[in-house]
Amino acid sequence: MKLTLDTEARTMTLDDSGSSRTIDLYSKEAFEELSRQWVRVGWNEKYLYSFTWLGRPIIQLPEDMLRMQEVIFRLKPDVIVETGVAHGGSLVLYASLCKLIGKGRVVGVDIEIRPHNRKAIEEHPLFEYITLIEGSSTATEVLEQVGAHVSPGQSVLVILDSNHTYAHVLAELEAYSKWVTPGSYIVATDGVMLDLEDVPRGGAGWADDNPARAARDFAAKHPEFVIEQPEWLFNESALDKNITHWPDAWLKRVR
Ligand SMILES: C[S@@+](CC[C@H](N)C(=O)[O-])C[C@H]1O[C@@H](n2cnc3c(N)ncnc32)[C@H](O)[C@@H]1O
Repeated sequence: MKLTLDTEARTMTLDDSGSSRTIDLYSKEAFEELSRQWVRVGWNEKYLYSFTWLGRPIIQLPEDMLRMQEVIFRLKPDVIVETGVAHGGSLVLYASLCKLIGKGRVVGVDIEIRPHNRKAIEEHPLFEYITLIEGSSTATEVLEQVGAHVSPGQSVLVILDSNHTYAHVLAELEAYSKWVTPGSYIVATDGVMLDLEDVPRGGAGWADDNPARAARDFAAKHPEFVIEQPEWLFNESALDKNITHWPDAWLKRVR
């Protein structure tokens, strides 16, 4: 695709597969197209590897974390389970929300919690809200440990941010969805991979091998889940789509 911005004429021209369209630069459609390209260039530039939350590196697009904050505040889950801990920034962010809300705790699973990350997470002032489980997220013994932290009747939100291959995310969806309570979500993050194959730091095969396809296939087999972007709690704009690394990620349990 060829994108031409003319700030003097205030237009954006999109040339794609032989067809050409010129739209108002100051429009919802132009903002969405600019956001898509901003996300792609930002991925390449490792923008998401440039933030911390309360001292811990967090590997997330800030837009996704702000939307997640809205969901956690609205749902106030008893338990937040996240696969993929890395430096612990997202666990600490969720723990900080639990503390502020006065409810909830966080269970983090990672195949390898490096000693310096474990030490920093365990020494963090919010560690009392966090449980760390080390092992592959789909291993039987890991699933048993996660299950031991979810009591009957508790509301549960699950975030999948570990290995982002189609097969692994699908296996995680099958294994973790049983804990998700009606009205809550299981979130298959980083489906943006589907739009990154032609980006220099993207990966060959990502157009097919990505979490968004796993989420769609899971939803097709499990009618108790629908893919639904969480509602925005405040919106005085005409915009309505998340700027995100997580397209088709939010699987809501409807029954
Ligand atoms: C993208 S990072 C997680 C980022 C973190 N959620 C954050 O927001 O800062 C992905 C993590 O998944 C872990 N991982 C990879 N394969 C895994 C598996 N099979 N089970 C559990 N964790 C895995 C990696 O070790 C890595 O720490």
